[in-house]
Amino acid sequence: MRLILLGAPGSGKGTLGAMIERAYGFPRISTGDLLRRAVREGTPLGRQAEGIMARGGLVPDEVVTAIVRERIAEPDCRAGYILDGYPRTIAQAEALAVIDGGRREIVLSFEVSVESLVERLSGRIVCPACGAIYHLTRKPPAKPDLCDVCGAALQARKDDAAEIVRERIRVYESATAPLKAFYRERSDFRPVDGEGAADEVFVRTAALLDGELRRAEGGPVR
Ligand code: AP5
Ligand code: MG
Repeated sequence: MRLILLGAPGSGKGTLGAMIERAYGFPRISTGDLLRRAVREGTPLGRQAEGIMARGGLVPDEVVTAIVRERIAEPDCRAGYILDGYPRTIAQAEALAVIDGGRREIVLSFEVSVESLVERLSGRIVCPACGAIYHLTRKPPAKPDLCDVCGAALQARKDDAAEIVRERIRVYESATAPLKAFYRERSDFRPVDGEGAADEVFVRTAALLDGELRRAEGGPVR
């Protein structure tokens, strides 16, 4: 089994992905988090990705696919995994089918208006140490600017600046949104109303997932 979280920047892939990971036990793999870690650590990959991410563009398909291929080969992914932010182009989706084909695949597409995306990203603060996600008004930390989980100082993501958000949404519409039609034809594609509080979206998501996983029982789930 693999779960693909599809959605525009700020649609809730990271927030909902973490809730699904906790509730269902599949590891969440966020290519954005993996790339940001590489940038922080100054690895060759990080140096290649840094400028592209700062501009709101896409890191080359083969680079991201190599990261995912390595990560899903780890033992904790054997029973299933959650992909957050990958695939993001048709080429990546085709590559995924090659590097790990034959797996049952559920695609959740979080649908959120552009107004909500912009509001969410303008108030987002994140923990650079453990990746926890907050929002200044919708999900503030208990102590201002400190992570509830690990105590590190919270910060805004550099690519959440207004003009970069506009570019990321444009890139999503042109390169990633076409994946909806791609997966509608090939996989269990399920749009999710992503508006409202994260807890409400999670209830909708879990109802969908429970149904899908029940349907899969007895089938070739691995
Ligand atoms: P990535 O980190 O994946 O960014 P993104 O796709 O732009 O998505 P975000 O992380 O901004 O939003 P999200 O959907 O996770 O929302 P969140 O849960 O945080 O990628 C970053 C960059 O890396 C890319 O631009 C690209 O350069 C590169 N990259 C990554 N993967 C790549 C790939 N496969 N190929 C090529 N390049 C790649 O929520 C947002 C905010 O809303 C939070 O503050 C949250 O608290 C709040 N919120 C309010 N209500 C809700 C609700 N109902 N659900 C969830 N959150 C809510
Ligand atoms: Mg995210």
